[in-house]
Amino acid sequence: DWTMAEFRKTKIEEIRAQVGSARVICGLSGGVDSAVAAVLIHEAIGDQLTCVYVDHGLMRMGESEQVVSLFRGHFNIPLVHVDASTLFMKGLEGVTDPEAKRKFIGKTFIDVFEAEARKIGGADFLAQGTLYPDVIESVSFTGGPSVTIKSHHNVGGLPERMNMQLVEPLRELFKDEVRDLGRELGLPDVFVGRHPFPGPGLAIRIPGAVSRERADVLRKADAIYLEEIRNAGLYDAIWQAFAVLLPVKTVGVMGDGRTYDHVCALRAVTSTDGMTADIYPFDAAFLSRVATRIINEVKGINRVVYDYTSKPPGTIEWE
Ligand code: XMP
Repeated sequence: DWTMAEFRKTKIEEIRAQVGSARVICGLSGGVDSAVAAVLIHEAIGDQLTCVYVDHGLMRMGESEQVVSLFRGHFNIPLVHVDASTLFMKGLEGVTDPEAKRKFIGKTFIDVFEAEARKIGGADFLAQGTLYPDVIESVSFTGGPSVTIKSHHNVGGLPERMNMQLVEPLRELFKDEVRDLGRELGLPDVFVGRHPFPGPGLAIRIPGAVSRERADVLRKADAIYLEEIRNAGLYDAIWQAFAVLLPVKTVGVMGDGRTYDHVCALRAVTSTDGMTADIYPFDAAFLSRVATRIINEVKGINRVVYDYTSKPPGTIEWE
């Protein structure tokens, strides 16, 4: 029986013992997990830690600004902000296979971290906010045969040749425990309460080919959806809600003209650890309000559908 305060103390000792006087690079993804890992490690080793926020151009609306201001402003933890969007977008051109996307993004993250590590004279360790469910799901599906469902970019997606050792202080925690630890460490509630966001970002919410244009369209639709969820007071009742931009175009009519644009799917689930999930049962008026706003306000989308699939048999993300 342990509390988060004790966990914090124990982990700080473990981190110090693991890394000694070496330099550590921590990759921030914009999500809660990597932020909590970074703050914990900073508490343990101070300026031996360099935080690197890699913007792959696949973040949600306003996300980069929020992360940068949390670290530089609130915690005063130095942060290197790398705009690597061109590198990622170029490499993703024409890549449609979900695992190929994940592998490319995982590998490219490491390339960028290694380049940043060289700039500070080398780092022996790479820190990540890997959680227990990430570990399990990248290895095998619970109770089933040993099959990789998805290569989570912060576990199975890492290249073999990486020359840094991993520091993963959250490896035995579930999401709700990470949130408790985050509060214990003084992270603001709005940040700690944010919905999970996958390392590969919007790339895995754009089935088929990813491009800057598609990411821009998706970001707008996603922002409208989340704004309506917040306005309805539903944000905290939902584990995760997001929009998906389908590579399918359908015919519509707007004003006196024909349209031929993409389909947007909305996903919202409840869950306690992301391992299983149920769909969130919005009322019809809510869904039609969101659909109308997205179709009216986002150029490139003319049809909105709601995903009614639980996990299993679906996964939460579409890829
Ligand atoms: P799935 O789609 O496997 O997702 O049902 C379960 C939870 O994990 C998140 N997820 C990821 N998180 N790196 C992450 O850090 C990843 O590569 C990744 N893939 C999925 C997903 O958003 C959900 O919360």
